[in-house]
Amino acid sequence: MNACKKLMDPLDEARSVLSAAQEIMVLTGAGISAESGVPTFRGEGGYWRNKSYEELASPQAFAQDPRLVWEWYLMRRQTVAACRPNRAHVALADWTAWRQGVTLLTQNVDGLHEIAGSEVVRLHGSLWVNRCIACGLERDDRRTAFEGLPMSPCCGALERPAIVWFGESLPREAVIAGFTAAFQAQAVLVVGTSGVVMPAAELVKEAANNQAIVIDVNTEDDAVPAHIKLRGSAADLLPRLLA
Ligand code: OAD
Repeated sequence: MNACKKLMDPLDEARSVLSAAQEIMVLTGAGISAESGVPTFRGEGGYWRNKSYEELASPQAFAQDPRLVWEWYLMRRQTVAACRPNRAHVALADWTAWRQGVTLLTQNVDGLHEIAGSEVVRLHGSLWVNRCIACGLERDDRRTAFEGLPMSPCCGALERPAIVWFGESLPREAVIAGFTAAFQAQAVLVVGTSGVVMPAAELVKEAANNQAIVIDVNTEDDAVPAHIKLRGSAADLLPRLLA
């Protein structure tokens, strides 16, 4: 009876799935940064100045009021600048340093995986990059405040945040890397995402359709089509799962 229970422990089961897989796709979302102090999108505090995330993160919102959209992103830069990677980011970075065959995809734009030392495929861009709306030139920008609006050094046109907004396509290289990882993976580890935003959520479905076993770490139930559900915080579970 005890032996049977032990075999069925989801954490043990997840460990053995990961150790048996040659190729692993990891997909992270806002929940992995929650314990660093970065607010999630669909949890509490999802509104800013009475506007929802969807009302601010779109090309239409930027065309209508670029200052308002930039103010929101500068507020987010200020929040993230004060945050450090937590034990979940560090556990992933330590693990991928020695574990072959892992592709880490993130929907997060905060840069905390990179600070922890991970190499990531950024599906949704970066909070710390501006893009010229005329020629598309991108440049790093660590400022958390500026007067007026940022102008591109190349052609003097307005810059926007280099983030994928609603209605926009993901960067081509990220899509290729994402679908390659999804088709090759025997195991998928999903961490801290509601699993409702496409095409990131689609990658998990593709991998599952392709016989990958999906492990899902979340404090709550979500829309991820998981075979193994680990319920608890990422900062608690990932160090135990990946040790
Ligand atoms: P959401 O805010 O939709 O979901 C965050 C998930 O993390 C929820 O399912 C929470 O239950 C879970 N969570 C919260 N705290 C956690 C913790 N400590 N440990 C583990 N899980 C925890 O965020 P995403 O799914 O990442 O797009 O949202 C996807 C995209 O929606 C974002 O990338 C953003 C937004 O549109 C862009 O910025 C382009």
